[in-house]
Order: sequence, then structure tokens, then C-alpha cells
Amino acid sequence: MALEILRNIHLAPLTTMRVGGDTQYFARVQSIEELKEALLFSQNQGIPFFILGGGSNVVVSDAGYAGLVIKNEIKGISCADDVVTAGAGEVWDEVVREASLRNLWGIENLSLVPGTVGGAAVQNIGAYGVEACDTILSVEVFDVDTMSVKNFLGEECLFGYRESIFKKNKNFIVTHVSFLLSQEKKVRIDYEDVKNFFEERAKNKMREDRLDDEPSLQEIREAIVAIRTAKMPVYPMGTAGSFFKNPVVSAERYEILKKTYPEIKAYIQADTTVKLAAAWLFDKVGGWRGIRRGDAGVHEKQALILVNYGSASAQEIFLLAEEMKRGIKAKTNVDIEEEVVVIK
Ligand code: EPU
Repeated sequence: MALEILRNIHLAPLTTMRVGGDTQYFARVQSIEELKEALLFSQNQGIPFFILGGGSNVVVSDAGYAGLVIKNEIKGISCADDVVTAGAGEVWDEVVREASLRNLWGIENLSLVPGTVGGAAVQNIGAYGVEACDTILSVEVFDVDTMSVKNFLGEECLFGYRESIFKKNKNFIVTHVSFLLSQEKKVRIDYEDVKNFFEERAKNKMREDRLDDEPSLQEIREAIVAIRTAKMPVYPMGTAGSFFKNPVVSAERYEILKKTYPEIKAYIQADTTVKLAAAWLFDKVGGWRGIRRGDAGVHEKQALILVNYGSASAQEIFLLAEEMKRGIKAKTNVDIEEEVVVIK
């Protein structure tokens, strides 16, 4: 059966931010064959394409998209020993759940990150001290230039902070991702919020007999779910998660900033550069946390998260974001970039 291509589809409901206009054409693809068909359509029409996953890290412009939006719905999760392979259209947290049920360690800290498996690889999602690239064994893509399937080993994916070869080259469309997990216990609970959670729990429960015990995989997954639920907005409130990336500055620049802002939150990286907590800057330096301009606002518990409280336009969100960036630049001379991808 020929692939169904729809016209003039409203994109806002297909994203978690819930703003923006229509796409000229829209198709859902459930296999590589259907993906190929959709791509041929865009080539024949001479229009661009955009691959949409869970829509949790994108903001659609009010003007919408003059091209074909392809919603990747290639599904399936399979496990062989410690390798889990999933279709790019699979919901990310379903993969984490499946791995947890099988007691496979490695991605439990990424519990409840919204979006799909494809998005997880393209964006190299990260949370609580873990990044997707830590366990990605290989990525299967459909290469638009050669119109054929191609495989990348983890180290060939050029993963960085919210970066990958697939983010740079839009002609590599992720179709499947394989994760190498561990049957052996690998506990990572050093990240501030996670450490605090387990310390609190130990105190409250007075479980002295278990204080030295490390938590189980299920307990860590439950902890992450509890931390995220307490700190992050609950859909259907419109949001795209962290709207900005944490900026990376030189060690010298960090020392200068620390003189003015002794409390500044930062992580010194292996290459001596320093990643600053943008949420802290927006909150403590900019005073943006919890502010609201009509239906556009900044989350009251996390200053990195912009919120559409109901009927904000994309323009209102972008104006707020620009103002926030300008404010921080003026006070600290630090440039902050968007993490979200804009569909325009
Ligand atoms: N902080 C503030 N004010 C705030 C929020 C945070 O002062 O309003 C402080 C916190 O106390 C903490 C520091 O800033 O010391 C960093 O905050 P947090 O631990 O919440 O992490 P983040 O750097 O803001 C990153 C990721 C999130 C991920 C969390 C948890 C980015 C851009 N964001 O946020 O990822 O869930 O760490 O690991 O790297 C996403 O990418 O969409 C996302 C949500």
C-alpha cells in the first residue's frame, strides 16, 4: 500500500511545547521502506524534509514548515544477552523500562527522559551523570545521499554534549540503535540530586542495617523518576525540557566569574574547560525563575525550562529566550545557546 502523505497538518499537538504552525506535508513511517518512500516524495517535490520523533526537544515556528515532516515510528525492542536494540521511533523510557526488568545496567539514570530512541541518539541525551553515548554500541541509519542503510559504531558517531554526527548531517536518518548494557551492577549515584535523594532516604528510614548497601537497579530507576517528577514540569504543560545548553567556558574565564559570583555552579571537565549551570545563571544572576509573560514563562523550579502555560505563540517563547540570553550576556559576558531544535 502506498504511503499516506497528508497535507497542512498542525504541528503544535505533535510536540510537547505545543506552539507553532502547520507543515505543508506530513507522513508517518513505520519501516525503512516507508521512510524511503517519504524521502522520494520530498525529492520529487523538491521540498526539504524534517524527521520528527517524540517532539519533546523541538519548537515549531509560528510560520510552520514548508516541506515534509516525517514522523519516525519505526518500532520494536529486542534483547540478546546484554545488548538491547530498539527502533528509532520507540519511546525512550520504554527501552529503559525493558532494560530495568532484565536487570541490565547502564541507562537507568536516563529514566523518564521524554522522546524517542532516535532522538536519544541524535541529541545524545544526558541526565544525572550519564549520557546515551556511554552505552551506544552502534547506530543504524538510512543515508539519504546513497539511499541505503549504513551502520556506525559508537565511536564513529562523534558524540559530544547534546551532539552527534546525526545532528550535524541531516542526511543520516537514525533507524535503529543498539545499546551495550551490563549484567554486572554499575551504580552511578554521585550526581548532586541523586546523592541527596539516597542520603535523605537512608536518614528517614533509619535503615542502619542497609546503609552500606548500594541500591538496586529498580531502586535507582524509582529514585530518578521521583527526582524528575518533583523538579520538572508534568505534561500537558507545554515544555521542551531544557531550552538552553549549559555553556562551556575556559578555566580562566571561570576563575574571573567566580570572583563576582562565588556560589556559581560549575563542573570542571576532563579537558580543563568548565561547564556552567545555565539554570543557576538564569535563576541567581538573571532572576528569571518563575517569571511569566502572558502564557510564556520560565518554570518555577527549573530556570532552564521555558513553559507554554496554554496559548503562547512560538514568537513569545523566542522573545523570552532572547531576552534571557541577552541579560546573562550583559552581566557575565557568557554566551548561552539553545538546546532545542527549531522547525522553521
Ligand atoms: N539550579 C539553580 N536554579 C534552578 C535550577 C537549577 O540554581 O532554577 C542549580 C541546581 O541547584 C544545580 C545546577 O543549577 O546545582 C544544575 O541544575 P540541574 O542539576 O537541575 O541540571 P541542569 O544542568 O540544569 C541538566 C540537563 C537536563 C538533565 C539534568 C539532570 C542540560 C541542558 N540539561 O540540567 O537535561 O535532566 O541536568 O541531570 O544539560 C534536557 O536536556 O532537556 C534536560 C532536561
